[in-house]
Amino acid sequence: ITLHLPVISSPMDTITEGAMAKEMSKAGGLGIIHRYNSIQEQCKMITEAVEDLVDHPAAAIGVTGDYLDRAEALVMSGAKILCVDVAHGHHSMMKNALTMLKKTFSDTVHIMAGNVGTLEGLNALAEWGADSVRCGIGGGSICSTRLVSGHGVPTLQNIIDCARTHHDVKIIADGGIKKSGDIVKALAAGADFVMIGSLLAGTDETPGEILNTKEGKKKVYRGMASKEAQTAWRGRVSSIEGVSHVVPYKGPVEEVLHDLGVGIRSGLSYSGARSISELQAKAWFIRQTSAGTVESSTHIKAR
Ligand code: IMP
Repeated sequence: ITLHLPVISSPMDTITEGAMAKEMSKAGGLGIIHRYNSIQEQCKMITEAVEDLVDHPAAAIGVTGDYLDRAEALVMSGAKILCVDVAHGHHSMMKNALTMLKKTFSDTVHIMAGNVGTLEGLNALAEWGADSVRCGIGGGSICSTRLVSGHGVPTLQNIIDCARTHHDVKIIADGGIKKSGDIVKALAAGADFVMIGSLLAGTDETPGEILNTKEGKKKVYRGMASKEAQTAWRGRVSSIEGVSHVVPYKGPVEEVLHDLGVGIRSGLSYSGARSISELQAKAWFIRQTSAGTVESSTHIKAR
């Protein structure tokens, strides 16, 4: 897959359905339609995306239950990318699913898979058939995995580790991206794309109602392992590793994506780079103290 904007919207039920997928495509990025729905509902969104001429119709699936039926129905509806979407991807169930998907579709469909937190995890998924891998455990804005399970890796470190792979596999930095500057850092460290949730949350194209509150207009953004999301999609709760939150309403996502694109291009120009691979070759990281970190944000004080 080639994208003009190296940004992918998360397959979450408060981020990506048809409207987000269309806008992501228009902006040169990619939207992955989430899997927390019936096969028919998800296929309908893919069919509409195809009729709206979305560049790369993409949808998420799991690794158990109806995942293969879902995958076949999605591909029949026009999906060109399947995202095997589980919290802990370096797992034998992922191996089985990727093996089945490769056997069923060979190379006619791009297979994205994840998430992983280590180079070993990335290499395993590439060997099992993934074309791109989501890297990031525990870094999401709505994520409590590290608190609950004690597991995870800072996303930037994860990318630095995974970029050492000898496999021809695309790396997606997923979780914790707060500003366009974080996207530039993830790309410089070796990511080919970033996946974002919170940056897009609250826009018109996310699923869900606009809430009128005393503090202004808001929309819900929730982790898929939050109590609220688990109750909604499977009617029961197991390990709660996410939270549900309201975020300020942001208007059309087009403006958010435009600003991200401008920020990314500015980042490339500071490194004298005309492409992401040139950025990766030219940029280097320095350690900074906490005083440096404070200076890195706007820090003017009212006098
Ligand atoms: P954000 O861009 O920092 O908001 O992170 C979004 C990413 O968090 C998604 O792409 C998923 O990888 C991850 N994620 C989604 N839901 C949950 C959850 O409930 N717990 C942990 N991680 C989650």
